[in-house]
Amino acid sequence: MGISTVLKWIATCILFLSSSLMAADELITKADPEAGKLRSVICIGCHGLNGEGKEAVNGQPAFPRIAGQVQSYLIKSVNDYKNDRRNDPMMAAIAKGLSETDIVNLAAFYSSK
Ligand code: HEC
Repeated sequence: MGISTVLKWIATCILFLSSSLMAADELITKADPEAGKLRSVICIGCHGLNGEGKEAVNGQPAFPRIAGQVQSYLIKSVNDYKNDRRNDPMMAAIAKGLSETDIVNLAAFYSSK
């Protein structure tokens, strides 16, 4: 492999990495809290109308508050459930049905609450 081939290969890697990083940034910039609000109907039963969470009652578990949480934390948490880096059967079922755009929009909605 000649030096120019190696350089081209390195340049391709850098280009690929920076474009995938930009894609994630762009998604967050374009996040739509109104679309997130529409998607949040599936979260209400557990996390409350505006993500305020619920105390444990009558043997039912507690549900954490997600309103006002930092946007990047919300994105990371939901992705962690989706990719089995964080384990909870209820959240895994929910997160696996969400697209990348859904997750970013939901995070924009709840972080604005
Ligand atoms: C069936 C009930 C249920 C539904 C529906 C549900 N969640 Fe959850 N969620 C939970 C439970 C239980 C936990 C705590 C799990 C744990 O201990 O990791 C949780 C945790 C979370 C967390 C992590 C909170 C933290 O402080 O780390 C986020 C973020 C979250 N849910 C977002 C959502 C979003 C967004 C939706 C709707 C798309 C949703 N959840 C729908 C039950 C639910």
